[in-house]
Amino acid sequence: MPAAETATAANAPATFPAPSAANVAPAAPAVVAPLLRVENLVVRFPARGGLFGGSREMVAAVDDVSFEIGRGQIVALAGESGSGKTTTGRAILKLAPVAAGKIIFDGVDIAPLTPREFFPWRKRIQMVFQDPWHSLNPRLTLESILAEPLEIHFPQLRAAARRERVAELLRRVKLPLDMMRRHPHELSGGQRQRVGIARAVAVEPELLVCDEPVSALDVSVQAQIIALLRELRAECGFACLFVSHDLAVVEQLADGVLIMREGKIVERGEPAALYANPQHPYTRALLDAVPVF
Ligand SMILES: Nc1ncnc2c1ncn2[C@@H]1O[C@H](COP(=O)(O)OP(=O)(O)O)[C@@H](O)[C@H]1O
Ligand SMILES: [Mg+2]
Repeated sequence: MPAAETATAANAPATFPAPSAANVAPAAPAVVAPLLRVENLVVRFPARGGLFGGSREMVAAVDDVSFEIGRGQIVALAGESGSGKTTTGRAILKLAPVAAGKIIFDGVDIAPLTPREFFPWRKRIQMVFQDPWHSLNPRLTLESILAEPLEIHFPQLRAAARRERVAELLRRVKLPLDMMRRHPHELSGGQRQRVGIARAVAVEPELLVCDEPVSALDVSVQAQIIALLRELRAECGFACLFVSHDLAVVEQLADGVLIMREGKIVERGEPAALYANPQHPYTRALLDAVPVF
């Protein structure tokens, strides 16, 4: 990302004036490490059907992908369906098999961790899905749905404190407090996505992986959810990998965008600059497909 590169360059030791006794900041590192650094990530799946059906032929859904996300930064991963966006996001949460490469989160390569070892990172990295309908237990009230991640990751919280946290979460995502006793089927799509977001931010994650979180919503509701994500990012300071096939949505939200095609990142940059001057023909084709621009 240009922003991250600029930040790194600006903080590189060589560009600093020689520290004098008066201006030495004791704890400040010379180079700010990104929150997430994905290096040469490869995810392979068995090829389906066709010529190779039944064989052990593997295809790379994610093929040598590298990128960084700084703290508090929103980076979009854009590209057409099947390009490997979801798989990249899932790999970061250990929900897709990493064949090669590193996923360095806050200085630690989490790719080789076992599920048990990964447990503390599950709190730090949360996921928001396209349609929370499938990820919200229909039998539970919103209160139980939002209390669950708190019970798992903040087991020391007493019931009263947890209830207060749930109320605070509903306020944060602008849902009325009396919704606590409602069930998912009583909500609109936009309200359900607010619950999905509230559940993800409940445990104060440092990184949100959002997989097409507004793609199933009407355009007017999309705009509200995007505004909410911007607001929450400002309040909570999380970074975000925002997976989207929609370049118009990306421009409203992201600090940087990665263009993905057939498992590879073909172009990257700051959205407005990249859209104004796309270098790769695939990016141009994607932009041509955006209806109003
Ligand atoms: N669990 C899986 N098993 C086999 N193939 C998969 C699996 N998940 C994804 N794929 C394949 O990986 C490729 C990338 O898929 P995906 O990451 O879902 O793309 P996108 O999110 O960009 O639409 C596709 O060819 C898809 O069929
Ligand atoms: Mg997808």
